Amino acid sequence: MNSPIITVKNVVTQFGLNRVHDGVSLHVDQGEIYGLLGGSGSGKTTLLKEMIMLLEPKAGEITILGQNILTSSNKDKDYLRRQWGVLFQNGALFSSLTVAENVAISLKEYTDIPAYLLSDIVSMKISMVGLPPHVGSLYPAELSGGMIKRASLARALAMDPKLLFLDEPTSGLDPVGAAAFDQLILQLRDMLELTIVMVTHDLDSIWTTVDRLAVLGDKKVIVEGTLDDVNRSEHPDIKAFFRGKRGLTRMQNGK
Ligand SMILES: Nc1ncnc2c1ncn2[C@@H]1O[C@H](COP(=O)(O)OP(=O)(O)O)[C@@H](O)[C@H]1O
Ligand SMILES: [Mg+2]
Repeated sequence: MNSPIITVKNVVTQFGLNRVHDGVSLHVDQGEIYGLLGGSGSGKTTLLKEMIMLLEPKAGEITILGQNILTSSNKDKDYLRRQWGVLFQNGALFSSLTVAENVAISLKEYTDIPAYLLSDIVSMKISMVGLPPHVGSLYPAELSGGMIKRASLARALAMDPKLLFLDEPTSGLDPVGAAAFDQLILQLRDMLELTIVMVTHDLDSIWTTVDRLAVLGDKKVIVEGTLDDVNRSEHPDIKAFFRGKRGLTRMQNGK
């Protein structure tokens, strides 16, 4: 359980004159839920996009499942893209397709699974994320915020990925919905033996789900480790976040 599945080394990212990362390094171990934290604009989403090959850093190294994704061949990149699922901040389902059609997209594109089996697989994915079967025939506009997140998660899991990337999965959910989503993430990690990278600033979610985390700030990783490691940091940003009023309450209540 302790070999790194993702290694980020000295990543530098720049948009025009705006340097976002200036030597970001971290590693994600197999089977863990890894939190990416940091203030707004600290480059969390950008780093996530670099990990899934939607953006290329200016310098540095990113290794995923043993492959350097910045120098790998197109064939290897195609292979890698099938090893992960992604849930973006706003869900991003296709509004003209039903939930079932959304979940089926990658399966249709990348596999030769016959139609009768495809619908079984899609139903299974929909049930796996805790949605009732009839939701498959609904359109995104007919779903609540929590259902959209779950449907997007079902789509992210369609190809049985080893890795799951989540960008602020609980944002926009009420506390009850967010807590239920956290439990779902934990269950799916155990059931499917996933490794999960999750951008979040939701303290409750961090305490419930995250095994280790990195906090981005000053264009670097301010601190990486378990919650206990991070709690011991004397960096002012960390103190403000984890030992502010909400953080202290959470710490006293424990996991
Ligand atoms: N495609 C882009 N083009 C130019 N600047 C970008 C782009 N994407 C992100 N940025 C900038 O990079 C910085 C980090 O953004 P982002 O990764 O979205 O932060 P976070 O997710 O931590 O809030 C911000 O200053 C943002 O304006
Ligand atoms: Mg972001």
